[in-house]
Amino acid sequence: MKKVIKGGKIATATDVYEADVLIEDGIITKIGKNLEEDAEIIDATGKYVMPGGIDPHTHLDMPFNNTVTDDDWESGTIAAAFGGTTTILDFCLSAGESKLSDAVEKWHAKAKDKAVIDYGFHLMITDFTPETEAELPVILEKEGITSMKVFMAYAREFQSSDRTLFKAFKIGNATDTVVMVHCENGSVIDELVEEALANGNTAPIYHARTRPAVLEGEATKRAIELANLAGAKLYVVHVTCKEAVDEIIKAREKGYDVLGETCPPYLTLDESMLAQPGFEGAKYVWSPPLRPVEHQEVLWNALKAKQLQTIGSDQCSFSFKGKKQLGLNDFSKIPNGGPFIEDRFGILYSEGVAKGRITINEFVDMISTSAAKTFGLFPKKGTIAIGSDADIVLFDPEVKRVISAETHHMNVDYNPYEGWEVAGEVQTVLVRGEYVVKDKTFVGTLGSGQYLKRKPSSQPLIEPALN
Ligand code: URP
Ligand code: ZN
Ligand code: ZN
Ligand code: ZN
Repeated sequence: MKKVIKGGKIATATDVYEADVLIEDGIITKIGKNLEEDAEIIDATGKYVMPGGIDPHTHLDMPFNNTVTDDDWESGTIAAAFGGTTTILDFCLSAGESKLSDAVEKWHAKAKDKAVIDYGFHLMITDFTPETEAELPVILEKEGITSMKVFMAYAREFQSSDRTLFKAFKIGNATDTVVMVHCENGSVIDELVEEALANGNTAPIYHARTRPAVLEGEATKRAIELANLAGAKLYVVHVTCKEAVDEIIKAREKGYDVLGETCPPYLTLDESMLAQPGFEGAKYVWSPPLRPVEHQEVLWNALKAKQLQTIGSDQCSFSFKGKKQLGLNDFSKIPNGGPFIEDRFGILYSEGVAKGRITINEFVDMISTSAAKTFGLFPKKGTIAIGSDADIVLFDPEVKRVISAETHHMNVDYNPYEGWEVAGEVQTVLVRGEYVVKDKTFVGTLGSGQYLKRKPSSQPLIEPALN
């Protein structure tokens, strides 16, 4: 049946205006005042009608740090939907697979019968055999994957050599694939970690002290230069600090094709969280680490100036009473990652829009549109427009609510924002015109999420300078 969303305020990356939205067969077919249709009416009075969030950075059901993340494609995508996210791009792990196609099949199997929102994959690359190097362009095209990820960190697990990184950039160039890079100098970090442990420094705060910002800045610069040398499009994931932002700004000023993502915790939490008494700091262990508070303003400013463009959740959850305890006596064994898929949208709205740091249009761009454009989903996803998928969030900006692990939908026993009062509430979420969340209640169907095949584009990522 058709649906009409009536009386709301449509907010896109460029406009805010009052109009009704007609949805037919999952697609937005009309936008206008006082649409009179024989359709189910959804009352959006007093609410924003926004494109569903697109989270370009999630790790669901991923083996990592000798364990597996606690949110799978069921709890993870349900939590995402409650938080206003209607599409995720998840990292498909290929480490340990002799064929990339096996890795992708595994990821399809994890997602297929569980996802309640739409999804695509980025392909993670750790090293190449002659076979996987030859297979990469083929699998990217066959699966409609337009982005891959390479790690310069995690020396014992995922880290690539500069040579592998450079090869990935070359293939990126040849196939118009966006190359996403985790920029931290993993080898030097490994040395600092050994040194800390040898000195008896085992507490969570040493996670941050052994991964200083200068090592993120150095790796960011290296990735930028190698990507540019190979002619690849570079997307720097989870930027946390001034050192990295400065390199990205310099590169973009030179016309290098570089984008940057940051994540809610780097904008809102700081290094002192890791120094809390007892083992509490383990809740805040992820990489790169939280930084001293002065970096937050640098990140907000870079977002505002569009030097950084997207907000990823970097959802990679491990329960505190469970898996985080692996590092009780050794910070380097604390599984790296945090639960953010549900609060990415709400935290950015509350800390960004409600506090006057960004406009509602900038918010929509960062939370949805910009990721859609970068990763080949626009205009099917990422906006409210005729012909776009009806992935829509009804958001009440007036509601105040408190974040808590007691009420969140992620499969973890803590929330890094426990007790935070935030402005605004996601109330109803549609994916391709079907309710997934209706008046704050889950009404979706497991397995209804669709895999998104994407098309590479030869367009540069960097926006042409306005002059
Ligand atoms: O600590 C984090 N960020 N865990 C997920 C893996 C990654 O580096 O993105
Ligand atoms: Zn990473
Ligand atoms: Zn990652
Ligand atoms: Zn990540």
